[in-house]
Amino acid sequence: MQATAPIVVVTRPTLPGTGLERLGRVAQLRQWSEVTPPPPERLRDLLAGADALLCQNSDHVDAAVLEAGERLRVLALPSAGYDGTDVVTAQARGVVVTNTPGVLHETTADTAFALILMARRRLLTAADSLRSGGWTGSRLDAYLGLDVAGATLGLIGYGEIGQAVARRAIGFGMTVQHTLSRKPDDELSQAVSLPKLLSTSDVVSLHVPLTDQTRRLIGADELAMMKPTATLVNTARGGVVDEAALLAALQAGRLHSAGLDVFDREPRNGVGDPLIQHERVAALPHIGSATEATRARMVDLAVDNIIAVLNGEPPLTPVP
Ligand code: DGY
Repeated sequence: MQATAPIVVVTRPTLPGTGLERLGRVAQLRQWSEVTPPPPERLRDLLAGADALLCQNSDHVDAAVLEAGERLRVLALPSAGYDGTDVVTAQARGVVVTNTPGVLHETTADTAFALILMARRRLLTAADSLRSGGWTGSRLDAYLGLDVAGATLGLIGYGEIGQAVARRAIGFGMTVQHTLSRKPDDELSQAVSLPKLLSTSDVVSLHVPLTDQTRRLIGADELAMMKPTATLVNTARGGVVDEAALLAALQAGRLHSAGLDVFDREPRNGVGDPLIQHERVAALPHIGSATEATRARMVDLAVDNIIAVLNGEPPLTPVP
């Protein structure tokens, strides 16, 4: 490696796949050595003189961090979401920001569908009962959930992940409707208003990015519009839902269940957490895209974006 090779800061010691190895052949890697993210002041130190940053959405790159990266040309996120980065400031400083659409939607849709089944059929409760010796007899009235097959699914957001969930739902004989998308009706789903979707869906699944417009989109009023037999599924961002209102609705029996992969505060210790521990909540630790192949593809695409920009070429997948 030549001493003049560009410097790329990587905020984790290891990443899935072989992308990092490839990057290491064309750049000097300056890697954070711990599995937890670098504190902001350490990230600022790492960025001195660096040309590129390969970090995670949860690393929270704000204006102060960007200022420390005075030579930074590209910031590559191996994620669809980029709400953890101050994109406006980055772009104003001439830093190209990239994400990884097109490679994780099927895996994330699998996770959303798993949560639909887990929450609606109360699969965690049933599995816990078996594990803890609670399956003592065959009862027709035990472990009862609600049907997924034939139910109505409402997708809030209808981008590539929402559409991938819709394809799965059709296989389950579900009626699909969507809202908060420029996409009109298609062969899978009908475009409806948000109030109509909330009041007529058996399952409401969130697939919008976290923005000023979508923060706390689902609060007490929206939950009150949903059927008491409905399930709310969130694989998007925790901030889209008012968690206190969600817990209150579940505790009051005004909502059947929730399937959550994302939370307002992450990471989060589920021990003693009333939302995560609630009997009708199926909760996962933000694993939407977590398969070996998909995570490797995400890193590969992030690396391709960095190499392109460092070579003076346009990035493959810049954020808008
Ligand atoms: C994504 O791709 O946005 C995932 O939620 C990881 O942040």
